[in-house]
Amino acid sequence: MKSTTKLLFLTFLIFSYGCSTTAHKTNKIVAGVDYHSFANTDDVVITHINLNLSIDFDNHTIHGRNAIQYKLKNPNAKEMILDTRDLTIISIGTPNGRGGIIPVKWHMGQKDKMLGQALIIDLPKNDRIIIEYLTSPESTGLQWLTPQQTSSKKYPFLYSQSEAIHARSWIPLQDTPQVRQTYSATIKVNKNLRAVMSAYNNPKADERFRTYYFDMPQAIPSYLIALAVGKLEYKAIGPRSGVWAEKVLLDKAAYEFEDTEKMIKAGEALYGKYDWETYDLLILPSSFPFGGMENPRLSFITPTVLAGDKSLVSLIAHELAHSWSGNLVTNATWRDLWLNEGFTTYFESRITEVVNGKETKDMEAVLAYQDLIAEIPELSKKDQHLALDLRGQDPDDAFTEIPYTKGRLFLDWLENAFGREVFDEFIKSYFHHFAFQSITTENFVNYLNDNLLKKHPKTVSLKQVKQWIYSPGIPKTAVIPHTQVFTAIDNLTKQWLNKDIKTNELPTKNWSTQEWLYFLNNMPKEFNYDKMVELDKTYDLTHIKNTEIAHVWYLLSIRNNYQQAFENMRHYLIEIGRRKLIVPLYTELANNDKNRAWAQRVYQIARPGYHSLAQVTIDKIFEK
Ligand code: BES
Ligand code: ZN
Repeated sequence: MKSTTKLLFLTFLIFSYGCSTTAHKTNKIVAGVDYHSFANTDDVVITHINLNLSIDFDNHTIHGRNAIQYKLKNPNAKEMILDTRDLTIISIGTPNGRGGIIPVKWHMGQKDKMLGQALIIDLPKNDRIIIEYLTSPESTGLQWLTPQQTSSKKYPFLYSQSEAIHARSWIPLQDTPQVRQTYSATIKVNKNLRAVMSAYNNPKADERFRTYYFDMPQAIPSYLIALAVGKLEYKAIGPRSGVWAEKVLLDKAAYEFEDTEKMIKAGEALYGKYDWETYDLLILPSSFPFGGMENPRLSFITPTVLAGDKSLVSLIAHELAHSWSGNLVTNATWRDLWLNEGFTTYFESRITEVVNGKETKDMEAVLAYQDLIAEIPELSKKDQHLALDLRGQDPDDAFTEIPYTKGRLFLDWLENAFGREVFDEFIKSYFHHFAFQSITTENFVNYLNDNLLKKHPKTVSLKQVKQWIYSPGIPKTAVIPHTQVFTAIDNLTKQWLNKDIKTNELPTKNWSTQEWLYFLNNMPKEFNYDKMVELDKTYDLTHIKNTEIAHVWYLLSIRNNYQQAFENMRHYLIEIGRRKLIVPLYTELANNDKNRAWAQRVYQIARPGYHSLAQVTIDKIFEK
């Protein structure tokens, strides 16, 4: 679609936003068109940005200067359209070649609740634009934390979360994954705190200068530009890896993630060299709304996976795997999200298999499959396609189990059909072929057809592939994950429910986190209060430190009105902001009038500590 047509469409969306009419019922979706950006990328694309940011912890603002270099794709282009949200533009100019800046003309488009606001700039004669701006304290891509919300309780903290379309709330740019740019940055902080970015981070930089320099020489999409500022320390955990964390968590994190180098090696052995030189982990405060975020060279990680026994480290395998699937080969639009998340979930499981064994891999596959099967009936048919039609919809809502687990099942199915050796070679060549490019679902399908399907005829048909991608549900030929370990648990559960074995006879001593999760997740509907009492008396699950097991235990507690767990659940809900762990609890609590009132009181206390993404989701639960 021409950018003018796209602008018309987006304008139409803005006018129809909130009305019952949706544009996409009449128009066909166009592959490769980003419906979530105003940028006129057919005319002009950014190639490099140089950021100069002053971090103001007193006012919760960033005063920024973004010096953009760009290249014309259309020699007749007259303007550049950037994405912004809640930014105050102070001035826009272009270098005059003698050290000065001459102003250029610009204006803002109409505000849109979901997309923000277009910034339309007249293109100067050269290839540079300099924008001076100020962020709002409500910037959706930034969370400003008080000292109380950190582990130290002493210093404030700031972090960004740009995926999917929040980079525009702290940097004016072409906020679309189909544009890749290199970046450099100078970050000035008004306190003795350390800034880190999705770039090389020098552990030797001295905090007292309050100024940090960064350089990301590899071209990345805007959603991977990331920044965090806090009282951070560094500890090396491998030849090219380390953890960044607040002091109290540093040793714990270094221990928990000490297998990171093994994971990188496993990834390289499968699909080719790790292309980003260093791989560090940043442990965030517990309000971080995700498990992890694959910011290049510096994955952002929730502290809720610090279980003490390395049992939740698949999250690291996942974020690391994005170094290939996502960061190297990037989804062109949010419709193609499964190319990022499905490939990564598949790749994650392959790394887990090498580092933690096939049993762990299989158990995690079954747990994810059960989540998928539970979620599918709640989704509309069109939301069950791998290639999603997200027009008029916030891409933040696209993160269901579909792109992740249906995507992964699709790749499991291909692996099974062609055999591991052939399939691995194909995936490796795919990453190599599309390295540092942003691609659509259709680019992948064509590559798959030419390089795998046609080379091994009569193995799978293109029609079957298209069914996976463009139809709802799970095709019948899917390879359903399975493990003996869980069959054994099914048997034990049966015996225990029949009272053939006593609670303290359950062989839980050697149960892994995954076995506990499976056991508790698969309690029958008619499970009751007495059994909760008995389990708790024997295993003290109400006080369990493992956040994933606690989550399932609290869900059961709500369903069976096991009030003894509520006080601990209250602390949990106030302490943790990770959406996956808290949203299902609020949802379940809201189903019953008494619990609903209780949950609303807890939420009132917890809400100010949550990231805006979590706030939006949970507000919706209580609006219903
Ligand atoms: N890229 C995602 C995080 C994300 C999701 C950002 C939605 C913006 C919107 C990240 O790689 C991810 O998938 N995280 C998962 C972890 C996982 C092991 C499935 C998460 O946070 O739960
Ligand atoms: Zn992911």
